[in-house]
Amino acid sequence: MLIAQISDTHLSERGQKTCGVAPMADNLRRCVESINAFDPTPDVVLLSGDVTNNFAVTEAELAVEILAGLAMPLFVVPGNHDDRAVLADVFGPARCRLSEAGFVDYVIEGYALRIIALDTLHAGYPGGQFDTSQRDWLRARLDEAPDQPTLIFAHHPPLKLGVPETDQDGFVGVDALGDLIAEYTNIERFLCGHVHLHTNTRWRGTMVTTAPSIGMQLALNLKDASDSKFLLADPAYLLHCWTDEQSLITHHIQVSNLEGPFEFS
Ligand SMILES: [Fe+2]
Ligand SMILES: [Fe+2]
Repeated sequence: MLIAQISDTHLSERGQKTCGVAPMADNLRRCVESINAFDPTPDVVLLSGDVTNNFAVTEAELAVEILAGLAMPLFVVPGNHDDRAVLADVFGPARCRLSEAGFVDYVIEGYALRIIALDTLHAGYPGGQFDTSQRDWLRARLDEAPDQPTLIFAHHPPLKLGVPETDQDGFVGVDALGDLIAEYTNIERFLCGHVHLHTNTRWRGTMVTTAPSIGMQLALNLKDASDSKFLLADPAYLLHCWTDEQSLITHHIQVSNLEGPFEFS
C-alpha cells in the first residue's frame, strides 16, 4: 500500500500568493501532478490540515478544485488555519466527514492499513486539542481492529519536537491521547503536519512523523520561539510505503526541476 501525504497547503484567495510571496496554489498543482505520475500509483492521499490560510470558503474551494485532479481518493483533516465546518462542507463527507459529535473524526477502511483521521483543531488557538468526548470514540475505533496495522493522521503533533515556534502552541488533552495510544501495539505511525518540517520521533509506543509544508518551510530556530519565519521551498510531500514485510517506509519527495536522472556508473 502506498500513501501520499501532503500538508499545510495554506491556500490564499485565487491569484494571491500566501503572505504575499508563497505560490501555494501552483505548488499544490505541482504536487498533484507528481503524485499522479508516481509509479506505482499511490492508493490514497492524506491532507493533514492547514488547507486554507485564513479559514475562507473560497480558499477551501480552490483547494477542492486543484485536488480534484488527483487520480486517487483524498482524505482531509483540519488544522488551526481551517474552519472545520467549512472544510467538511466544501470537501464533502467522502473526503472530510464530521462525526456525530461534530469533529472531523472518521475511519478509512478497505486497505492493508486501517487509517483513523483525528481532528485536533482547537478553534481559536494555534495548538491542538484532544477533547474528552473524542476519547471514547477513538478507543471504540481502535478496539474494532486491535490486530490490524493502523495509522492515525491529524494536524498537530502530540509532543514537543524541540522546535520552540510550534512547541509553544501546546496541545490540550495530549496526555489522555498518549495514554490511550500507549495501550495499543498496532499503531504503526501517527502522521501529522503543522510544523512545516519533516521530522520523526518515538512517542508512546508508536512513531510520530510530521510532513513538510508544500512550500512554506519553517526557518528552523532551535532557541527562539518568537522567531517565526518561513523559507520558500520547493513543493514537497511524503510517500509512506507499506511493504510486504509489514514495514512502513517514509520517503520525502521534493518536487523540483532538478537535472537528471543520471546513471550512477
Ligand atoms: Fe501550517
Ligand atoms: Fe498548523
